[in-house]
Amino acid sequence: MVGARPQFVKVAPVAAAFARAGHQHEIVHTGQHYDARMSDVFFEQLGIPAPMAHLGVGSGAHGAQTGAMLAGLERVFLDDPPDWVVVYGDTNSTLAAALAAVKLHLPVAHVEAGLRSFNRLMPEEHNRILTDHAADLLLAPTAEAVRHLGREGLSDRTVLVGDVMVDVLLRVRDEVRAQPVPLPVTPPAGEHLVATVHRAENTDDPERLARVLDALASLDRPVLLLAHPRLVSRAEAAGLPLNRAGITAVPPVGYPELVQLVLGASGVVTDSGGLQKEAYLLAVPCTTLRHETEWPETLIEGWNVLAGDLVDLRSVVSRPLPPAQRGMPYGAGDAADAVVRAVVAVTA
Ligand code: UD1
Repeated sequence: MVGARPQFVKVAPVAAAFARAGHQHEIVHTGQHYDARMSDVFFEQLGIPAPMAHLGVGSGAHGAQTGAMLAGLERVFLDDPPDWVVVYGDTNSTLAAALAAVKLHLPVAHVEAGLRSFNRLMPEEHNRILTDHAADLLLAPTAEAVRHLGREGLSDRTVLVGDVMVDVLLRVRDEVRAQPVPLPVTPPAGEHLVATVHRAENTDDPERLARVLDALASLDRPVLLLAHPRLVSRAEAAGLPLNRAGITAVPPVGYPELVQLVLGASGVVTDSGGLQKEAYLLAVPCTTLRHETEWPETLIEGWNVLAGDLVDLRSVVSRPLPPAQRGMPYGAGDAADAVVRAVVAVTA
């Protein structure tokens, strides 16, 4: 079950691993993300099988959006009950699917279980905690996630599988290195940064959003801002231009394009969870416009620095390069096979 952009990236290797192992695996798309650039392009580029059902739920307030998904997913699950429901990450789609499934006594596996920001103002934090406590099998990406689940009394249902995003990222990194893809945007010449901003805490309050954009424009290198639809709509409503001296704002790009842009950048500035980790794995320094991260492993040696207060962002972003040696806290890129093994082991 998928619905939002980060989930398309995660389902790609898992769908392939289920197919390799000879299991029937069907995708249900809630429609939380519906723009071609936020959805279709990922299915095409990552070779994800077409969804067997598309609920077309779209945007809305949290309750209305999650509720519509819950009703739609219940119908799909009742129609042809699966042996397992696999849910990904921390979006409203994740929570809706977990809840719809457990109410029908369908076992739920949560890929990317155990992440915590400890920030209860984030909708994603509630989605994670509620999904973990509802799910039957908690597939944790990191040792830290396993520890969080243990503290919440969920050890019995937890398996450390590694991070499925590594599987996709390493493959796509090698592909774009061997054969660069045409880019829909020309990155600024010379040293530049790639940025994304979309979280509610950075976009919903016009004052905060103005500070974020001013801080991005003040950096010592030009910024290529890949503008999420939420950012575009909130900036428009607040009367804040995204394109300005220092910032070139462009529509979101596909996955190989993103990887290629990050590889070509001297740094990343973001509030995305996935991009912090992708920058780390691609050895590009990251600055995170938040006060906390679900991926604390990226902070080691300063590969990632939290700068939620935006204070002196310019010098944070232009800090010296960290030492090149990094560990492999997210696994070796074989997590999707481990997901399949864990689901099969519990079923047997
Ligand atoms: C959601 C997830 C977030 C994830 C992010 C990745 C929740 C609570 N949040 O945030 O965890 O990191 O996806 O992108 O589930 N919109 C469009 N076209 C689209 C999708 C969204 O125009 O294809 C606009 C709509 O104006 C909508 C707004 O973006 O109101 C927000 O979309 P929503 O699905 O509520 O959450 P995201 O901010 O995308």
